[in-house]
Amino acid sequence: MAIEERPGAQEWVPEHGGLGALRQAAPDCRGCELWQDATQVVFSEGPARASMMLVGEQPGDQEDLEGEPFVGPAGRRLDAAIDAARLDRNGLYLTNAVKHFRFERRGRRRIHEKPAIGHIDACRPWLAAEIAVVRPDVVVAMGTTAARSVLGRNVRIGEVRGTILESADASGTPTVVTVHPSSLLRIPEEAARETAFQAFVADLRRAAEIAGGGGG
Ligand code: URA
Ligand code: SF4
Repeated sequence: MAIEERPGAQEWVPEHGGLGALRQAAPDCRGCELWQDATQVVFSEGPARASMMLVGEQPGDQEDLEGEPFVGPAGRRLDAAIDAARLDRNGLYLTNAVKHFRFERRGRRRIHEKPAIGHIDACRPWLAAEIAVVRPDVVVAMGTTAARSVLGRNVRIGEVRGTILESADASGTPTVVTVHPSSLLRIPEEAARETAFQAFVADLRRAAEIAGGGGG
């Protein structure tokens, strides 16, 4: 059993040096215990300045192995939605609320386990630093974990969806909350799945409009 000490990431987050310094420092983070069982840190993907920042929950099994965000099944749904919203993934900044994979071993399989509030809050200094250097015009929080990290409080997606909120860090960046792309994979009925996908695409479009139309 891992030792669960959570000093929080702040002391590992460099104050200067921009995105490059953040990416370089992240592997050393010991802000919570999740680094112990993960393969590696999964930091972010995208340019150092982007008008849109998309925030997920945490890396999954495949992301943990490859060291890149959104390369597994949820990432493929996200890619489809990005295309449907007429955006370019290369122009977006993609990151996660929690930078190490949390899982439970079952035999040979590693089963995704939701990060606890303590993990989200411990990892938050990284996300705040990313917002400070990337300076997006809009943040898209995908799912309740991302929303908690960006907004600094718990929200229900259904209650805040379609509204423009503000990130809780010093920047107060316009923030929209939507579902997590993996939730789209769990809807069994095809018509409902398609409706949910289109609503997710519409949320991305709305965010792109806040970001000045292009979103790239
Ligand atoms: N789910 C996430 O929230 N992030 C990833 O990077 C992959 C899956
Ligand atoms: Fe640091 Fe976040 Fe990894 Fe915890 S999950 S060790 S706070 S980078």
